[in-house]
Amino acid sequence: MKKTIYEFEYDVYDSIENLTPEDKSLMDSARKVTQKAYAPYSKFLVGAIAILENGERVEGTNQENASFPVGICAERTLLGSAAMYHQGVPIQTMAIAYHNLNGRSDKPVSPCGMCRQALSEYEDRTQKPIRLILSGMDGNVYIIKKSSLLLPLSFGSIDFK
Ligand code: THU
Repeated sequence: MKKTIYEFEYDVYDSIENLTPEDKSLMDSARKVTQKAYAPYSKFLVGAIAILENGERVEGTNQENASFPVGICAERTLLGSAAMYHQGVPIQTMAIAYHNLNGRSDKPVSPCGMCRQALSEYEDRTQKPIRLILSGMDGNVYIIKKSSLLLPLSFGSIDFK
């Protein structure tokens, strides 16, 4: 028997003001995109925006439903649009913000398990890492170099081979 350790590194910034101008602009936009969320049930508005390798930007927000499990997260809304409108184009960076109308929005949250799986598959499809910038409406910002780092020992296309 041997033990294996999984570690990953991410950058923590005190504020959006300490980011590069490009990253700051992307996170500023993600915060604005939260306004387009449809989240009447949770009142947790999530906004995501990605910059693609061709320079285009794609947005996504969470889209809830009275039948709760039908709702979809901002990240997967975005990935669907990117795949449809920019087929095969890698995503360089995705910024994800949220506005919690029931409480605080001052610390980063990271993608849910289902979105981690979807992000990981997108990286696999395009053979490029998706860099993540995570924050609330203010406060700390996390930067993760590759979204699949959030999903160790993942199940994926390789398992079908
Ligand atoms: N949500 C997202 O859109 N992205 C995440 O990474 C976490 C959760 C949404 C799903 C639901 O509409 C609301 O936030 C509360 O869970």
